[in-house]
Amino acid sequence: MTSRETRFVVCPGDHLANGQHLKLQLLFEALREECIVFRFEGKVYAYINRCVHMPRKLDCEKDQIFDKSGRFLRCSMHGIVYQPETGASVSTICEGERLRAVALCEEGGEILITDFRVSSVTPVCEAG
Ligand code: FES
Repeated sequence: MTSRETRFVVCPGDHLANGQHLKLQLLFEALREECIVFRFEGKVYAYINRCVHMPRKLDCEKDQIFDKSGRFLRCSMHGIVYQPETGASVSTICEGERLRAVALCEEGGEILITDFRVSSVTPVCEAG
């Protein structure tokens, strides 16, 4: 993983197919945070991997971040579902609360973290 100014290369864009995700360890606002990066309907998104309901990772009980339909992110602890595009909870519990988004882009065939709050990026797991 390399850094160019405040941009951190995550991986080549074609390493992350629709519905796949990978995890990164970030230094985010000077704190260690896990981040999920995924592709949904062709676009890439990144969020801090912490449910709005309780401080649990979305994949804490199962090694997946999407629900069965593939249309929503789903926390495996109690089942809150989120819009992938906004990180907003669409469940009755915590309705409207949002996962913390991390800025990223896809450029020149690469996925890059561009969030100014991030000072280091380390891969945790490959796309799956
Ligand atoms: S901890 Fe995620 S739904 Fe409860």
